[in-house]
Amino acid sequence: MTLTMPEPEPLEFSEVVNRGRLLIEDIVSNISKVVPLAAARTAYWHPTGFIVLNLQDVDGLGLVRLHIWSRDRRTKRRGNPETHSHVFHLTSFVLKGKYVEHQFREVPSETGEFFGYQVIPPTGDGIDRVVPDGSRCDLDLVAVEETDAGKFHNLPAGVFHRTEIQEGETCATIALLSRPQPGMLDRLVGPENHSGIEGERLPVDRRTLAAALLEIGIKI
Ligand SMILES: [Fe+2]
Repeated sequence: MTLTMPEPEPLEFSEVVNRGRLLIEDIVSNISKVVPLAAARTAYWHPTGFIVLNLQDVDGLGLVRLHIWSRDRRTKRRGNPETHSHVFHLTSFVLKGKYVEHQFREVPSETGEFFGYQVIPPTGDGIDRVVPDGSRCDLDLVAVEETDAGKFHNLPAGVFHRTEIQEGETCATIALLSRPQPGMLDRLVGPENHSGIEGERLPVDRRTLAAALLEIGIKI
């Protein structure tokens, strides 16, 4: 007889926020130890230009990552739309700087300014694939959220948003990304591009990572 474990129920947004807060506060209180240990692994450039370093994968909860928008260096993927929505709930603690996020409501329209894309779930080959999903919309700005260092910022799955950290400014967050919400897709909206966007996740070289960590007061 074969026994299969049932898939755990996805967590509600409020549970992710509440459990994430405790977990992240614990990590922050040990940050000078946790980050140098994690930095033994490779950090990657997010397509929109910030550094991603995985810190911890927590069973039943999600993935904890350090995100750094360096004042000195951002490596972006050309043509990658910046406005997007996630399949996961997110809670994050601002370690340094001011985290600024514009949030939008998607207004479907056949003549809309923006074209929709979906992110193909990772296949394990390290290539990101973003393909047009045939949708078209306008975007209504519904909020500009500014979160200062020392505060938490939360975002439910499915809300379109764009992060705005000025060039020349440093911002860093510890983010918990929940497990994906069933039936959702990571989506982006941007200019028309029939062929979609494809690219490798680029590793961050050690010197750049060390310099970015120094910007937030962490030595490796
Ligand atoms: Fe995002």
